[in-house]
Amino acid sequence: MPSITLIVNGAEHKTECASGESLLSVLRHRLGLTGTKYGCGEGQCGACTVLLRGKATRSCLTPAESVAGEKLVTIEGLAANDHMHPLQQAFLDEEAFQCGYCTSGMIMSAYSVLLAHPHPSDEEIIQYMDGNVCRCGTYPRIMAAIRRAAQGAKKP
Ligand code: FES
Ligand code: FES
Repeated sequence: MPSITLIVNGAEHKTECASGESLLSVLRHRLGLTGTKYGCGEGQCGACTVLLRGKATRSCLTPAESVAGEKLVTIEGLAANDHMHPLQQAFLDEEAFQCGYCTSGMIMSAYSVLLAHPHPSDEEIIQYMDGNVCRCGTYPRIMAAIRRAAQGAKKP
């Protein structure tokens, strides 16, 4: 079985991975980073979103071998020094979830919005969040959370 190195949230991880194994599977099952969720497994829901080169990326469709040596950010990488990231706090403050299953992916996509547009318009938020599905229908609260984080935001 090949082994690869991934740089996840600033830490280097050397891990085995099966040929064709998804990045999502490696994150969850080999590195124990279970904050990134399996939703559809087909690139349609966004639950598995991580950041790769500053861009929101569907880890279910990304072969782990294709990102060997790359720097990745997962939901576990946002909090710092026991303090939640402003986006995480804003999602809590706005109660922008019900079951919470989509939330990691929503926050990672929202993170990519704020990286590109620290003070985004609603159109820009929708453009970046469009592929993330919330089965509980909390979209208005998610929009409010992103606006709230942006208002308090310097650069994420
Ligand atoms: S699990 Fe990857 S997009 Fe749904
Ligand atoms: S909060 Fe349940 S899927 Fe979004």
